[in-house]
Parts: sequence; C-alpha cells; structure tokens
Amino acid sequence: MKTNDIRQKYLEFFQKKQHEILTSASLLPENDPTTLFTGSGMQPMVPYLLGEKHPLGVRLADSQKCFRSGDIDEVGDNRHTTFFEMLGNWSLGDYFKEEQISWMWEFLTQELGLDPEHLYVTCFTGSEELSIPRDEESAHLWQKLFQERGIEAKIVENSEEEGMQGGRIFYYSEKKNWWSRSGIPQNMPEGEPGGPDTEMFWDFGEKLGLHEKSSWKDLPCHVNCDCGRFVEIGNNVFMQYKKTSSGFEQLVQKNVDFGGGLERVAAAVNNDPDIFTIDLFDGVRSTLEELSGKKYGEDEKDTFAFRVILDHMRAAVFLISDGAYPSNKDQGYFTRRLVRRAIQFSAHLDITENFVERCTRSIIETYQYAYPLLQEKLDEIVKVLKTEEEKFRKAIERAKKEYNKIEGEIQSLLEGTSNTENTELIYEKLAGICANLYQTHGLPFEIFVEFVEKLGFQIDEHKLSRAFEQEFKKHQELSRQGSEQKFKGGLSDHSDMSIKYHTATHLLHIALRKVLGDHVGQKGSNITPERLRFDFSHNDKLTEDQLKQVEDLVNAAIEKDYPVSFQEMKVEEAYKEGVIGMFPERYDDVVKVYTIGDPTHPGNANPEEPTFSREICGGPHVEHTGVLGHFTITKEESCSAGVRRIKAILE
Ligand code: ALA
Repeated sequence: MKTNDIRQKYLEFFQKKQHEILTSASLLPENDPTTLFTGSGMQPMVPYLLGEKHPLGVRLADSQKCFRSGDIDEVGDNRHTTFFEMLGNWSLGDYFKEEQISWMWEFLTQELGLDPEHLYVTCFTGSEELSIPRDEESAHLWQKLFQERGIEAKIVENSEEEGMQGGRIFYYSEKKNWWSRSGIPQNMPEGEPGGPDTEMFWDFGEKLGLHEKSSWKDLPCHVNCDCGRFVEIGNNVFMQYKKTSSGFEQLVQKNVDFGGGLERVAAAVNNDPDIFTIDLFDGVRSTLEELSGKKYGEDEKDTFAFRVILDHMRAAVFLISDGAYPSNKDQGYFTRRLVRRAIQFSAHLDITENFVERCTRSIIETYQYAYPLLQEKLDEIVKVLKTEEEKFRKAIERAKKEYNKIEGEIQSLLEGTSNTENTELIYEKLAGICANLYQTHGLPFEIFVEFVEKLGFQIDEHKLSRAFEQEFKKHQELSRQGSEQKFKGGLSDHSDMSIKYHTATHLLHIALRKVLGDHVGQKGSNITPERLRFDFSHNDKLTEDQLKQVEDLVNAAIEKDYPVSFQEMKVEEAYKEGVIGMFPERYDDVVKVYTIGDPTHPGNANPEEPTFSREICGGPHVEHTGVLGHFTITKEESCSAGVRRIKAILE
C-alpha cells in the first residue's frame, strides 16, 4: 500500500462517517500570532474547539502539513522528521470516546489491515490535584475491541515504574496522556483548551529494543520507552477542558481531536521502523544515491546524512511553497537553516556539486497530486533554492580559503593525538580553531569535520562538538563585548585619546595579520583614554620577535602619516576588495569601511605602499595617523582557547 493510498483511505473512511474533508492549511499560521508554524492538525481548529461554529459542520477531517522546528536536531534517527503530515479528524461537540475509539480500531485493523497483536494503547490515569478522573471508559472500550479479536488485553496500572508486565493497555499520568498546545496542564495558560488522551503504538518487535538511549535501561522495554521498538502512530485527544485561574472547567462542548503521523502509519503498514524507507522518499532517495554513488542503509554515518538531507529538503520545499523564503529572520530563518544543513551533510556523502535542484524536482514529483500547489510553484521553488545553494556554497568557498591557510597548523596539532594524555587539550584547541573559522568566516562545523577527516584523522565528533559548543559560547561572549564597544564606536568615550587608540587598533589588527597570518581576526576590543586592549584569534604565545615586528609596523604606519577616510559599501563588495570584517553571513547590508591610506588600493600593512588597512567599522577615527605618537605593546597573554589578548599604549 502506497502512502498516498493510506492518506486517501483515511479521508474516504471519515467521509463515509459524515465528515467534511478540508484541504491542508498553510504551514505559516494565518491568524495565530502565538506560533511561527503549524505544528499540529488542531492548530487551525482552535476557535472551533472553543465553541465557534465551523461553516462546514461538526465533523471534519484532513491531512495537515506540519512543521516542528524544535525537532531539527532530532533528525537522523529512524523516526524523527521536522516536516510531516498529520491525519486528523474532529468532533466539534458531536461524537465522543466510543465512536472515536471504535472507528480508529476499524480504520487501523480493517482498512489498513494492521495486525492487532502489534498494537498497544495508553490512557490517562487521572489526577486528584487537577480533579480530573481516570479515563476508564477509554481503557475498557479498547479492551473490548482487543478481546473481540481474541487478545486478552490486560490493563496495567503503574506503567511508569514496572515495564510491560504482560500488559496491552497502560495508564499514564498527565506527563504522557494529556494534550494541549502547551503540553502538561501545569504549563497551560488561562483559556487554553486541552484534555486527556489515549495514544496508539505500533510494536516493531522485540529485537529493536536496544535501549541505547533509554531511561528504561535496566527495566524491561515499554511502550513509552525511547529505544525505537514502539512508535506512537496516533493520538486521540478528548478535548473537553479549559484552563482557568483556579484549575479546569468543562468547555462549552466535548470535542475529539485526533492526530496521527501519516509517515509513521505508513511505516507501521510496512512493518519497517525506518520512516525514511516509505515510498514518499523513494524518488528523492534514489536521486541522492545517484548523486553520491552511495547506497542508503549500508553505512550508519551515511544513513544519518541521507536522513538529514531527505527531511530537510522536503521541509524546505514545503516551507517555500507556503511563502517562507530563506532569510535571516522569522520563518525564513528555519528554511535557510534547513537548506544549509542539507548542504553540509551532502559533503559527508561526497556530493560536491550543486544538488538541491534535482532533489527539489524529485520531491515535487512525488507530491504533485496530493499537493498541486507544489507543481504550480515548481519554477519559483527551484529558483529560490538554487540561489540559496549558490550563495551558501560561495560562503563556504571563502571560508575554505581561510581554512587552507591554517591546515598545516591543524595537521601538526592532530599528530599529537596519538599521545592520549594530550587529547583533551588538542580537542579544545581544535574546537577553538573551528569556532573561530565559524564565527569569523562562516565555516560550518560539519564541513570543518569533513575537511579535517580528509587529512586522514578520525575525529571523535561528539567530543569535538561538545568542545566546539563551549568555545563558541566563549567566542560569542567576547564578540558581544566587542560589539557593545563597537556600538559606541569601539570606545568607552570620545575623548581625543580614545579616538587615537581606536585608529591604533586598526593598525594593530592588520599588522598582526601581516606578521602572524590571515587567521587573525578581531574577537574583542576595549579602549579607554589610557590604553587599548585587543583580543584576536591565534593559538600560540607571540614571540619577542613577532611582538617587535608588529610594533615596528604600527610605528612605521604612524610615521608615514596616512590619511584616514571612510566610504559606505555593500558587505559583498567590501569582501571583494579585501576589506577586513566579521560578518560573513550578512550579504546585503551596507557598511562603513575605514581606510588608512588611499581608498582605491587594498590594505596590506606594507608601509612602502599607499594603503595600510581597510576595515569595516563605525568610527570615529583621527584624520591622519601622524598624530598618534609612539606605539608600544605592554602585555601579551592568553584570553581563552585560541584567543590572545594584547594591551598597548601610545606615548
Ligand atoms: N493534537 C493532537 C496531537 O498533535 C492530536 O498530538
């Protein structure tokens, strides 16, 4: 059975039960300022669950496009996706538990032909604190249905402690068997609707109970266990309560809100726990196999990358079709993040050419009948995605040049990993380099790992990733301090002396790059009328000789009495002209570029030449370098991993 057939069977089934079929609402909610995306089928229904009359009546069903941005980092296992379709049906004050449970049973076991031996359910155990009773009605309805098929269906009380206990129906607290848009009852705002629910699970078989990441590690497996053996395929919410200031009251009507993940239902029909093997992914999966020359499912790490790309590309295509174009804010930020992550992971599959267009076409072909909007917007979606890919690849190219400059340094660093005592320190240093490349030049973590592995070293990615996060936080704090300073023109005040120190900082920055290499980037700056302080990316302590060379360069530039001026230009242009700056991700912004020397030449810290430095900066600066006096470095020290700090004075 194809997934498209499952969707159609579901809608026809509920149509026969007098439901009106709705077309999916947009992924971008129209009248709901509380959330960026439609993340469940019920979201567009909220007003009607609260009592407003729906123009199409009291029985509704649909297959709703959903996007859950919070799951981006979960993608890669066999069952998480950011985009999915939610099969939904609603009773708006009409039928209730009895009809819902028996219809679900009929749909799953008869229409789809699922074997009830693999089905398990959970129900709400009740709460004294909330004055909401145990949902015995649901438990007994399920039990009767199982028994009619010759399955004993034992009801288990203390599910959270004991494991399976030979049970089929399990009671859980509000932590598991309560649904509202804001989760458990305690988190619901006043006025929010919610209620107890009964969830249905598919058992993929005991051999899958690997318990790797499970809190049930030392216990027998259980339906809510995280090991992948059981997967929730649907949730029947009995939406009958509304949160008040003092607790809960009954809504004006008792509603049913059912939601079931279409892809998960299809996985159950296939009895294959890997959601990415369902036919909706066939087209794009083969496209990726062709592009990469690799087979899905053969290698664990490759499979992870395949899944990320499959999920992210599909989500991006649907998001763009609903108007979320890649950008740096709001919904478009997520589209951008998805496309970029997909490209990052494509490097792991050794896909180096542009591939986004081919994936997009495969995805749209699969969905052309179910979602005709995609086909209508095909050209536009392809164009948007191609442009995004080109932009991002250019940024990576730029960053790669920076990486190449320090590859030798990385190589020698990693040669030390054979000595296990050093490993922690080496990872910390490597993470520092990586965080710097990311922040200063936009090189993504995954691409960095790819580059380093090409050197022939096996990297412990988890370890590096943890170290990277820590380093990244430090770098962010530093650059926040830096940008707070920049906001004030990089100065604590605008006295003559502070302005002089500001210009001296530019001379110092370029001189450091000249002496140490282009990996040097500003990480922070603090200026007072007494001194300058400058933090920059560099791993090792500076030698006496290097310090002297830097001082000499700065003093030569002062003696040359360069003029200082500024121009406004686009970041992109500024980069092309070799200007130093730290915003590789902000393509379109117009910035101020300060030149020390002649603004028609690149700055190269060579006092024999007309231009000493060009840098993105808000100012203010002196008009001629000659007024600065004599420059002396008073201190050079470590600031954090991969970052050094210099203090200097003018006399
Ligand atoms: N609204 C319920 C859910 O999203 C059905 O799980």
